[in-house]
Parts: sequence; C-alpha cells; structure tokens
Amino acid sequence: MSVDYDPFSHEAMKDPHPIYDKLRAVGSPVFMEKYNAWALARFADVWECSTKHEKDITFTAGQTPEQVLLGAPVPDTFMTKDGQAHRQWRGLIREDYTPDGVKVHAERITGLVREMLEPLLAKGEMDVYKELANRVTCINAGYMLGLPPEDSETWRALIDGMLEREEGQVGGGSETNQAAVGQLFGYFFEYIGKIRQNPELAGGHIKTFMEAEIDGHKLSDEELAFYIFSLLVTGSETTPITVAGVMYYLAQNPEQKAQVVADPVKVRKAFTETLRIDQPTNMLARKAVNDFELNGAEIKAGQGLLYLYASANRDEEEFESAAQFDMNRETERDLSFGRGGHKCLGLHLGTLMGCIILEELIAAIGDFEVVEDQCERLYGEHLSGFGKVVIRWDAANAKLR
Ligand code: HEM
Repeated sequence: MSVDYDPFSHEAMKDPHPIYDKLRAVGSPVFMEKYNAWALARFADVWECSTKHEKDITFTAGQTPEQVLLGAPVPDTFMTKDGQAHRQWRGLIREDYTPDGVKVHAERITGLVREMLEPLLAKGEMDVYKELANRVTCINAGYMLGLPPEDSETWRALIDGMLEREEGQVGGGSETNQAAVGQLFGYFFEYIGKIRQNPELAGGHIKTFMEAEIDGHKLSDEELAFYIFSLLVTGSETTPITVAGVMYYLAQNPEQKAQVVADPVKVRKAFTETLRIDQPTNMLARKAVNDFELNGAEIKAGQGLLYLYASANRDEEEFESAAQFDMNRETERDLSFGRGGHKCLGLHLGTLMGCIILEELIAAIGDFEVVEDQCERLYGEHLSGFGKVVIRWDAANAKLR
C-alpha cells in the first residue's frame, strides 16, 4: 500500500491524524520522494530509530521539518550538534534541568501563577492558553535565560508571529514570519550588545553561555543570539499547548474531570495523558549519515527522516484504544519528550510548570466547562494541539487556594 503524504499540505497541517492512521497502516516507514525523506509514523519506528540508530543520523542538518526537508538555515546551537560537542554545550546548563535542579523553581513558579491567576478569577471566562499558561511559560523561559521579565510579552508576540502559518503556506517564509524573526533577533542583538558592554548585567543561561569556552571556542554574538532564540522557543511553546489540551480533554471526559476537580494533584496524570494523545511536538526531523535498515525500510545516507511523534503516540500497536483519553492508563514506554541523547532537556521543568499551572487553576475555580466553538487548533507542520481553549467557571466562588 502506498500513501501520498506531504507534511506541508493543507490537509496535513490542518489535521494530520486521518493521514497518520493511513501511514501507520502501511506497517513500515513511508518514503516521500518529493523530499527524499522517510516518514516514521509508527511508535516502533520512531522508538527504534531514536534508540538504536543515533550513530546513523545527524542533528547538524537541523531538527525542524523546514530545515531538513526544505533546506532552511540551521542555527548552530547544542541542539544541532552531534556526539561530544552536543554533550559539552548542553552540559553547561544540564544541572538546572534535573529533577532536583527544577525543584528550586517550584515556589517561584507557584507565586508567578498565583499572581497571573488572581485578577482573572473574577472574569469567569478566559482563554487558558493565552491569558495564563503562555504568559507563565514565557516569563519563566526569560527568567531561566536571564532576560528582563518586562519584555516577555514582546518576545511572546514575535514568536507567535514567526510560527504563524497561513492556509496552504509551506515553511516559515511569509512576510509576517520574516518580520517577526527580524525583530526578535534585533531585540537579542541589542541586549547582547548591552551585556557585552556591562557583563555584570548578565545572568542565567545567557551569562553561562557568554562566559563558556569549549575546545578554545567562545560564542560570537550571532551564536549567542541563536542559543537565546532556541531556548526561548523550546522553553515557552509546548507546555502551554499541553495545559490548554488538558482542560479540553478533561471537559470532554466528565468522569475524569470530576476526579481531578475533587483532587487537583491528579491533574499530573491528565498532563501525561494529554501529551500522549495530543503530542505538541507534532514532528521533528533528522538526516541519515549511514545506510541502515529500519523495520523494512532501506534508509540511505543523505536521506531525511521525519519522526511523527503525534502519530507514534496514537499507535494502536503500542497503546490500547489509542485515540481515547484515559488519564488512568498505565504505559510502559513513551515518546512524549523524545528519546536518546537529544531527549528533551526541559522535561522536568515543563512537567513542573504545566502541573503547577493546572493545579492552581483547578483548585481555584473548581468545576469548569469548555466553550467548544471558541477553541482553536494550531495550523502548521511543526507543532500541534490547542492554541486556544476558552473555559468558564463560577466566578462568585473562585478563589486562590
Ligand atoms: C510539555 C512540554 C514539552 C514537550 C512535550 C517537549 C518535547 C520535546 C521533544 C519531543 C524534544 C525532542 C527530543 C529528541 O530529539 O529526542 C524536545 C527537545 C528539547 N526540549 Fe522539550 N519539550 C517540552 C518542554 C520543554 C521545556 C520547558 C524546555 C525548556 C528548556 C525544553 C527544552 C528542550 C530542548 C533544549 C530540547 C533539545 C534537546 C537537545 O537537542 O539536546 N522543552 N522537547
């Protein structure tokens, strides 16, 4: 069976799941001639490629579909390095992201969530993505980097502008996208200029990367700007999509919602299950550097590989009733944060932030409903899930716990 799949088609960018079902039914990776690349839609394919073939692939050709499939420029950061260089540069900030490393941020993040949440409670209605979750994760990403918190709304809007896709748009080349990237980098260069002049103003990861020297190499202004950019995007994008998704899926499943409303700590299970059923990193891409065999596919050096995480996470061969939301399910393996040496650096921080936002919110508002016709899913190839989820609650009885 052959399936005609183009990750940049309108159909796939609008709702990839019907086509993911067909791709998985093929039973092995599917070749996309147009891009000289393979689509890995099954859990087993993504898992095996991530665990057994790291030496056969490179990250230097980029991580996004746009970079690997369309040849968009690849910023040089630890995310696009292989082997030892990757470990050394990622290692500079690794300790801040271990389970113990993120624990020190719990109190500060809880304070931030309460500060953002309090003025919203009397409204009785909000878009949980935009008005709460996204604001918290943006401010926190800036905090970890050492950027001024008062600028967070500015870079948030610019990241949105950069990722926005119009119907049928292939890649990020629209005027809106380019203008947003230009302004974002303008902001970074101005900030870097300021801290190069006054190093005592630098803090967080920016200070660490600015001062680092590995194998005689120090980061140029441009390289430093790419580190800031990449960490700002990865640190702020996926968690709020998941938070919005949790509220959506709980509202769709009233019995599970009742369990969480009665005991908000249980929202952790809902967070994990939302990541599975609606993986926000829809897909990431790699390039093969050696020939190898993968579950029936003969991969050749130089070919691209698309890891379709959102598809793998709904694979019936791995998860029973995979398209159903069940926060009490037990899973043996997961790909929600990737796998292998490049596994998500921020997995403990993302989980911590997401669960604090959700716990504080549900503890404060109690029962809630979702305004279905005001929810919107993201359109595009790279990220998936809800970019808008409007919820309603009883404002008269809402209060911070
Ligand atoms: C629910 C939230 C999140 C999800 C679902 C998620 C998912 C992922 C996935 C699937 C990858 C690819 C891993 C691989 O290649 O095997 C990744 C990489 C990465 N994530 Fe996350 N992420 C989340 C939150 C965060 C946060 C809060 C940060 C904050 C710093 C972060 C930083 C990164 C970085 C730096 C990488 C690249 C790692 C590398 O190449 O070494 N992520 N993430």
